[in-house]
Amino acid sequence: MKHLLSIKDFSKEEILDFISLAEKIKRKPKKFSKKLLGKTLLMLFAKPSLRTHLSFDIAMYQLGGHAIFYDLSHSVLGEKESIKDFSKVTSRYVNVIMARLYEHKQLEELAKYSLIPVINALTNFSHPCQILGDLLTIKEHFGKLDGIKLTFIGDADNNITTSLIYACPKVGIKLNIVCPKELKTKISGRYSLSFSSKDAKGDIVYTDTWYSYHVPKSQYAKRKNLLKPFQVNKKLLGKAKFMHCLPASRNEEVTDEVIDSKQSLVYDQAENRLHIEKAILLKLLK
Ligand code: NVA
Repeated sequence: MKHLLSIKDFSKEEILDFISLAEKIKRKPKKFSKKLLGKTLLMLFAKPSLRTHLSFDIAMYQLGGHAIFYDLSHSVLGEKESIKDFSKVTSRYVNVIMARLYEHKQLEELAKYSLIPVINALTNFSHPCQILGDLLTIKEHFGKLDGIKLTFIGDADNNITTSLIYACPKVGIKLNIVCPKELKTKISGRYSLSFSSKDAKGDIVYTDTWYSYHVPKSQYAKRKNLLKPFQVNKKLLGKAKFMHCLPASRNEEVTDEVIDSKQSLVYDQAENRLHIEKAILLKLLK
């Protein structure tokens, strides 16, 4: 049994397998409509969600299974109820769990005691489902992954950057990270790092919110000042394609002009969450 906690734990072949299955499902979704008949996914959310919540729910429905939404924001998980007991109990009811949590350690603990696969639906540390879907999007638009140059610009001390660092080198994407010195990633890996927005070049420019869910409101003003020079506008983007995991704060990390342009892939990225998550569910429940 395998969990999907971080892309770090997956080989190049496994990553490419997720993508090729997602491509097949996207082409002929009806062929897969009974694959998870009688199976249930438990969806745990400690943070808000639009794409992850809807795409997983719809993925289960379209594969013939069922999904249960469980809001953790008012639950006693980790307080009155231990993660160990929570995991052991839920493992007896459902077939697979996905969880959007704050601390990555909590997710690892959930997985440690789980008798069924656990999927990371975002932690402060990483967001593997997003990046696997993004690889599908890149392949669709460029016809390949190997040799593509991708610049991530903005808050590089976040879950999207971490997952890009683990994923890109494995599939041959050259990753360049451009960020303020104060918000650089703490993860080592095969990427180039720059603190000047002039270096935001490549086939793709990818950014993310300046205020991830786990960032306290007290830091917003400071971050806004630090990150302003790293906004993706038309001049910075040049001829590159634009990517963003969403939700976006329009006219902060990205201008309307860029996100609404023909170079923007953001809605394809959002759609591909559905196809890749079907592939993830099928592979983990095999
Ligand atoms: N870095 C963002 C991603 C949202 C999908 C966050 O954690 O809020």
